[in-house]
Amino acid sequence: MVPTNIARRTGARATAAFRRRLLDWYDANQRALPWRKTRDPYRIWTSEIMLQQTRVAAVIDYYKRFLRAFPTLKALARTNEQEVLAQWSGLGYYRRARMMHAAAKKLVAEKRQIPETSSGLRELPGIGRYTAAAIASIAFGEVAAVVGGNVERVLLRIAGEDEGLDTWPAAQRLIDSERPGDFNQAMMELGALICLPKAPHCGTCPVKRWCGTRGEHMTAKKALRTRATARYILAINDGKISLVQRRKAARLMPGMWELPPARSASARTAPLLTLRHSITTTDYVVKVWRGKPPRGSIQSTAANAAKLPLTGLTRKILQRLQFLTKE
Ligand code: ADE
Repeated sequence: MVPTNIARRTGARATAAFRRRLLDWYDANQRALPWRKTRDPYRIWTSEIMLQQTRVAAVIDYYKRFLRAFPTLKALARTNEQEVLAQWSGLGYYRRARMMHAAAKKLVAEKRQIPETSSGLRELPGIGRYTAAAIASIAFGEVAAVVGGNVERVLLRIAGEDEGLDTWPAAQRLIDSERPGDFNQAMMELGALICLPKAPHCGTCPVKRWCGTRGEHMTAKKALRTRATARYILAINDGKISLVQRRKAARLMPGMWELPPARSASARTAPLLTLRHSITTTDYVVKVWRGKPPRGSIQSTAANAAKLPLTGLTRKILQRLQFLTKE
């Protein structure tokens, strides 16, 4: 069978029509996201790092706060890692923040600007193929297609396949060379607003004419989730709370601050607080008991704790208990 689908091989006229329809739809329907108001490569870089594995809605406030704290590449390079992590606290995947900070320090030490090409960007810590193409296309107009979670689903549906399509060349054939950054974001937006994993809104899809699926769809395989219980101690004396630092060699969240972990023996009394929290593929039931400050803990005021790189869970617990205010 000769493939005629737009995501496989199609005439120039159909491809041009696809681009036009998609971009017109994007112009009329895109969400007003803060990183879409700028061409500043540092801001766009920040947004794309934060958006790795993280939903748009979760990123917006962090993006604004981070840029208030570190408005320029130089400001980020000058600061220390604990301050960077403190701003990132709660957003998760902290390695992203460390890598971005390392990249900023490297560029400033070498008196360089942010590279303007996807290949230059990929040489920096924390920037892979997806993020390099996103930054280069949005900030510098490079004709580099982005393929990631949402976009891959859109391309596979358009091709009418659930496997066997190398989506990168398909995306590169489709991208609009006049507005590559907008085209990439339009594909992301289509995946986020219309071409949803379950029950896509095909009735309002601007490119359904070229779609090989139109509503029949494969459902993405869900990552297996694990359940676990986490237990912590809340020790407050004279308005100061006990916190401990995670080991520098810890696999997750190394060097960040948290409430002292409780041994399961504390489970004999009722917890002061129970809440749910998810980290990557684990869903935790979190229980917090009142207790004594353990050896090795620091005693921190609320003002000081707010400036520490707390784990997201610790920040959530302290906000829930109104020891910290929500920003
Ligand atoms: N996900 C990754 N990059 C994005 C962007 N620029 N806009 C919306 N969602 C995204």
